[in-house]
Amino acid sequence: MNLSFKLNSGHSIPLIGFGTYQIRGNHLIYETLDYALKAGYRHIDTAVVYRNEEHIGNALKTLLPKHNLKREDIFITSKLISQRDKGEQFVEELVQKSLANLQTEYIDLYLIHWPGVSGLQVSHPENVQYRKNAWNVLCKLHREGKCRSIGVSNYMVKHIRELLADCNGVRPAVNQVEWHPHFFQPELLELCRSEGIFLQAYSSLGTSISTDLRDDPVVAEVATRLNRSPAQILLRWAIQRNVGILPKARSQAHIDENIALDFEIPPQDMELIDDLRNTSGAKYSWDPDTVV
Ligand SMILES: NC(=O)c1ccc[n+]([C@@H]2O[C@H](COP(=O)([O-])OP(=O)(O)OC[C@H]3O[C@@H](n4cnc5c(N)ncnc54)[C@H](OP(=O)(O)O)[C@@H]3O)[C@@H](O)[C@H]2O)c1
Repeated sequence: MNLSFKLNSGHSIPLIGFGTYQIRGNHLIYETLDYALKAGYRHIDTAVVYRNEEHIGNALKTLLPKHNLKREDIFITSKLISQRDKGEQFVEELVQKSLANLQTEYIDLYLIHWPGVSGLQVSHPENVQYRKNAWNVLCKLHREGKCRSIGVSNYMVKHIRELLADCNGVRPAVNQVEWHPHFFQPELLELCRSEGIFLQAYSSLGTSISTDLRDDPVVAEVATRLNRSPAQILLRWAIQRNVGILPKARSQAHIDENIALDFEIPPQDMELIDDLRNTSGAKYSWDPDTVV
């Protein structure tokens, strides 16, 4: 199953992407991307900090022809984090390095990974200027065609409002945030929707460290009723509301399972799952709300 969504940049993004956090090394990346492309994934999510862009670039050189695909058949996302005391030149160099590592003329979507800055306290007022500068660089690279769509990640309502008030003529196409039944923010989704920003979920399955989400009894109950796995229920719950997903998996069985989402969760089961936010409220990743 491979649905897509039209971004405000005019480009389409596949609703299901393949997450690559903690998948590194030429061999492992080649093997997992081979499984993913075979299963039908056409969207790969990476970031400078994942330190695997180079491995992805190397793998795609062989895998695209192997799967009868061209560059334009796949969608690549990468992301950067600004560094304290490094200016716009540094941000541009990071994007140029991503392009070189991925061995591509353009990146489909480039995100500011985090509203904060590496080496700067989250409460420091200069975070605001750093992310504004990074956005201006992405706008320039977007106009040059090197980043087809640009967006943000881990931006909360306050960060999105700040960006929209002064976005240098390019509105963010995407906001990628932690989003799963134990932790999701309806007010953020509402703001993104009303401003034409596509919301993408990460940690839909609850990360490599915690299995609490995959083991949730309510999710298991719905999974049994619908004859699906808990992972499929967690993923379907997001895309059924047009929220993008980026499941990360290493085994072929999980990779295949995570894209087999062509089923419907009935409204009463969607509500049961929605309620988990009130009973659990567990968060599994960093808290961007702390960044000024
Ligand atoms: N923008 C950000 O700040 C940010 C933060 C976190 C993540 N992300 C992106 O989102 C992607 C996904 O998030 P994530 O890596 O945190 O976690 P995730 O995809 O929610 O969960 C990954 C874990 O679930 C396991 N898993 C995968 N499929 C499964 C299945 N069908 N059944 C049971 N277990 C399964 C994986 O195991 P195996 O690997 O052993 O198969 C892994 O331990 C990342 O890879 C990254 O691309 C972005």
